[in-house]
Amino acid sequence: MLRVGFPAILDPQLMSLMPDGIELIPLGERLDHPVDIDVWIPDPYSTRALRVWPSLRGVRLVLSLMAGTEWIPAAVGPHVTICNARGAHNISTAELTLTLILSMFKYVPLYVDIQRSGDWRRRSEASHLYQQLTGDQQVYHPPVKLEELTGKRVLIVGHGSIGKDIERMLEPFRVEIVRVARTPRTQPRVHPVSELDSLIPHADIIILILPLTAESKGLFGPRQFEHMRQGALLVNVARGGVVQTDALVDALNSGKIRAALDVTDPEPLPIDHPLWRCPNLLITPHIGGSSPQFDARSIAVAAEELRRYIKGEPLHNVVQAAT
Ligand SMILES: NC(=O)c1ccc[n+]([C@@H]2O[C@H](COP(=O)([O-])OP(=O)(O)OC[C@H]3O[C@@H](n4cnc5c(N)ncnc54)[C@H](OP(=O)(O)O)[C@@H]3O)[C@@H](O)[C@H]2O)c1
Repeated sequence: MLRVGFPAILDPQLMSLMPDGIELIPLGERLDHPVDIDVWIPDPYSTRALRVWPSLRGVRLVLSLMAGTEWIPAAVGPHVTICNARGAHNISTAELTLTLILSMFKYVPLYVDIQRSGDWRRRSEASHLYQQLTGDQQVYHPPVKLEELTGKRVLIVGHGSIGKDIERMLEPFRVEIVRVARTPRTQPRVHPVSELDSLIPHADIIILILPLTAESKGLFGPRQFEHMRQGALLVNVARGGVVQTDALVDALNSGKIRAALDVTDPEPLPIDHPLWRCPNLLITPHIGGSSPQFDARSIAVAAEELRRYIKGEPLHNVVQAAT
């Protein structure tokens, strides 16, 4: 019988979604003896999972509950197949992306600050912020208090499972979408990443939603910030390492761009890190996937993959095939 190890902290009721004909082995946070399993469902937090891994024997398949699996190949080596939980984070991460974009275009960070100060008259700061960010010196009456998303040009870097859902959720805003992925395609048109630099200057908003890999590490650096429009918004909901943090800090401090980050490099962001003090920046502490619906969705994805594995059918979400 196939032995499937899973984090004991998960609600046991959720494990009823798993197919019949397997033996479920709950794995505590620390193991003081070797445990034989065939399939490992690691804890979503890599630090906890890595504490367990050295005691596991016989693992042939890893079913991650997360979309991002960047720590797993180095830990388990090349002889293990790794699947991610493609699809499980889509709704919460896509909704967060829209929230971050709208928050930045409606100056929510400024208005939260004004609310805390209890000083209504400070709302005049919004038009200064607009002028500073965009360089637009035109006189508006009444003065600008927010900006509009509708009609903007949005560059989505990574047009996979989540990128497509972000596009779907942006559709009601009648934005112009430009897509980038590893491989070019048509219908809809997706540009190859080799064209990224030429697309950046035309974008009002750039969304990063691609995996952190050897190729994507540091993809967004000084040259890419240089190409960005004055006042353009960078949204990183992918992984912190896709962006070169020093270059991001410089671009923000120069007043050229604005940014919203759910992910940073490093994570957790140390209390004295310069990013915390950058202007025109909204940070959420890597929350994109963590809604109450997440556990059931990710277990359902793993259960479906396991069903296919038992039947010998091709797996859906392989990010590393065993060699
Ligand atoms: N903020 C959060 O809490 C949170 C939550 C969930 C996921 N994430 C991150 O989001 C990532 C994407 O998730 P997903 O489920 O959408 O993955 P996915 O379905 O595998 O799609 C990934 C997309 O990125 C593209 N891509 C890969 N490497 C690239 C590169 N070097 N340059 C340009 N594009 C590249 C792929 O191109 P092709 O289509 O050509 O293969 C694909 O379009 C995850 O890996 C994870 O790191 C973050």
